[in-house]
Amino acid sequence: MDSKKTLIICQSIHHGNTMKVTEVLANELDTEIKKPFEVKIEELNEYDLIGFGSGIYDDMHHTSLLELVDKLPEGAGKKTFIFSTSGVPVSILGDKFLQNYLAKAHSALRNKLESKDCKILGDFICPGFNTNVFLKYFGGLNKNRPNQKDFENAKEFALRIKGEFLGL
Ligand SMILES: Cc1cc2nc3c(=O)[nH]c(=O)nc-3n(C[C@H](O)[C@H](O)[C@H](O)COP(=O)(O)O)c2cc1C
Repeated sequence: MDSKKTLIICQSIHHGNTMKVTEVLANELDTEIKKPFEVKIEELNEYDLIGFGSGIYDDMHHTSLLELVDKLPEGAGKKTFIFSTSGVPVSILGDKFLQNYLAKAHSALRNKLESKDCKILGDFICPGFNTNVFLKYFGGLNKNRPNQKDFENAKEFALRIKGEFLGL
């Protein structure tokens, strides 16, 4: 994105669902991708925009992302965005339920970023294949998600973030 440096930090441990979304976002935002353990906290100074994404595990982002944000200096003041994939069964509960769940699922990471004066330009959540615990015995939920439509939504989200970031 011109001379601005952007980074997405992603942890995707269950089925690689969030990494698939990350690749779409990264392509659109011309962004590097790193895992939390690959990031040295001092190097985040170099980036003008940082995205944080993972699956949702026990109603929040992966702890490695939360712990990384804890290490940011006070007043870090970065421009950021947050995204995730979640096992909420959208075919049963619907997209509206998932969108409402976003506030809960993103609140831990959101609060930590805001406590470091980071500006959150937007949030994105989408369904992800889930075979956690007993679900594996029934073939799992959200089969084949994220799908093509989810990738299109991710692309649209990336374009919105790009516009916000560049002040377009
Ligand atoms: C240990 C574990 C806990 C999970 N907890 C939740 C949860 O609290 N809420 C939810 O919506 N999905 C939950 N899920 C489902 C994942 O969020 C979903 O499958 C996600 O797409 C996984 O992303 P990943 O493949 O990038 O790791 C959980 C999955 C695992 C393995």
